[in-house]
Amino acid sequence: MSAKILDGVALGKTIRAEVAVAVGRLSGNGGKPGLAAVLVGEDPASAVYVRSKGKACEEAGMHSVTVRLPADASEAELLDTVDRLNADPRIHGILVQLPLPKHINSEKVLRRIDPTKDVDGFHPINVGKLVIGDKTAFRPATPYGVQQMLIRSGIETKGAHAVVVGRSNIVGRPMANLLIQDGPGGNATVTVCHSRTRDLPAVTRGADILVAAIGKPEFITADMIRPGAVVIDVGINRVDDASVPKGYRLVGDVAYAPVAEVASAITPVPGGVGPMTIAMLLQNTLQAMEQMER
Ligand code: GUN
Repeated sequence: MSAKILDGVALGKTIRAEVAVAVGRLSGNGGKPGLAAVLVGEDPASAVYVRSKGKACEEAGMHSVTVRLPADASEAELLDTVDRLNADPRIHGILVQLPLPKHINSEKVLRRIDPTKDVDGFHPINVGKLVIGDKTAFRPATPYGVQQMLIRSGIETKGAHAVVVGRSNIVGRPMANLLIQDGPGGNATVTVCHSRTRDLPAVTRGADILVAAIGKPEFITADMIRPGAVVIDVGINRVDDASVPKGYRLVGDVAYAPVAEVASAITPVPGGVGPMTIAMLLQNTLQAMEQMER
């Protein structure tokens, strides 16, 4: 078997175009949605993400602001920045790029973001809303993107056994919550696995849909996949590769080539889940503005 490749670049582009149309309609009435990204320090991967978010915003006709703070910025400075953005009427969505430097308490910072502007969906209010199925919740962009990929690729989640590998607050936990919701892209039977799961391959082999979000390069191997399963790779890992000028290449959490032989559909890395995340962040910023105006 050779898996169908789920193209996140094309799907992400479609969603961003849909958002741009809605933004155009809103802008006709005056304001436009604004997203602020806050980057502390110079982590190269975070800088790349924040730059692509800014560019995507502008392409969709949204207002975009990037606040850069030095790596040694104090927690108080970061909290002040959040307060200022909370009070800024041109800003509808606020995102503080993670991870933050060790001397800053991330929990405290995330809780300072006004929940109505929390387009990452990391504030406990939005986490709670997601769990109880409140439609005004902001869905964390990466799992929301995965869900949209499944829906828009015609992959049925209803009644399927979905196995999520990883229990992070950014991906694993919200992914599991989205998949058990009643509605499109939901109604799955969900198992969440983590580092203490006993006999992980036995569990993953039971998956109709496997979502890998563990942050370990090529951890999911072909023997862990049931033939015909759908495999979604959320990982993005740098591995050394002396044969390329950059000295590294990007790989997912899934051993792509061998798993693609067994799966019925698979996301590539890069070009799979990554571009969907940005598209859903724009969608969330639009949702924030619409909910504020209601
Ligand atoms: N770091 C990795 N993924 C994310 C994300 O979705 N949002 C934020 N704020 N930081 C991240």
